[in-house]
Amino acid sequence: MKKVLVAYSSRFGSTEEIAIDIVETLEDEGIEVKLLNLRKITQIPDITIYDGILVGSGIMQGEWTEESLAFLKQYRETLNKTVLGLFVSSGEAANPKLYFDARNKYLKRLVEKFEFTNDPEIEAFGGVFDLSPNSIHSEQEKKILKQIILSDTTGFIVNDGKLSDFRNWQKIRDWTRFFARKVIATEDKLL
Ligand SMILES: Cc1cc2nc3c(=O)[nH]c(=O)nc-3n(C[C@H](O)[C@H](O)[C@H](O)COP(=O)(O)O)c2cc1C
Repeated sequence: MKKVLVAYSSRFGSTEEIAIDIVETLEDEGIEVKLLNLRKITQIPDITIYDGILVGSGIMQGEWTEESLAFLKQYRETLNKTVLGLFVSSGEAANPKLYFDARNKYLKRLVEKFEFTNDPEIEAFGGVFDLSPNSIHSEQEKKILKQIILSDTTGFIVNDGKLSDFRNWQKIRDWTRFFARKVIATEDKLL
């Protein structure tokens, strides 16, 4: 049975829900999966045992989370030897006009920065804009969110006072299945 690690960190929970959905899809494909919340874990287990690794992060003010970035940095060598996938949940990726730019700056550039030569799968999924009265965001965070939304409103509509969820679950599942097939197609690890 192939083994995949899904390591993620999430500031507001959207990437966490994506990671959980990814686990379900991978399991559905007959893969054994370990889910690792990089914000909670104090000790990273041996990651060399995995046939594939997915690393995810939410985006805030143009940045990955510190924890996911630190994971990429610390385990770069192992990550470069496995079937690797990187994903983000990003507000900009929700907007068709900003999507390619978001994919470039939050993923492609990172692949270049860390010099991953194993052709990682990358995908930017849309995010959640919670402007509802029950939102967990502070007023300051809501203000920033509105600025992102107002920077280019073409192609999508976000209602003030409401929660808008731009995560496309079909896209997330299709991408995960593609990744699963890539892992399944690799030679078994000699442990
Ligand atoms: C304060 C704040 C700043 C944000 N900044 C950005 C940003 O610079 N670019 C972007 O694409 N999305 C931005 N977003 C949207 C988030 O990426 C989106 O809500 C995502 O789903 C968050 O993932 P998380 O819940 O896993 O942290 C921001 C959201 C908040 C609340």
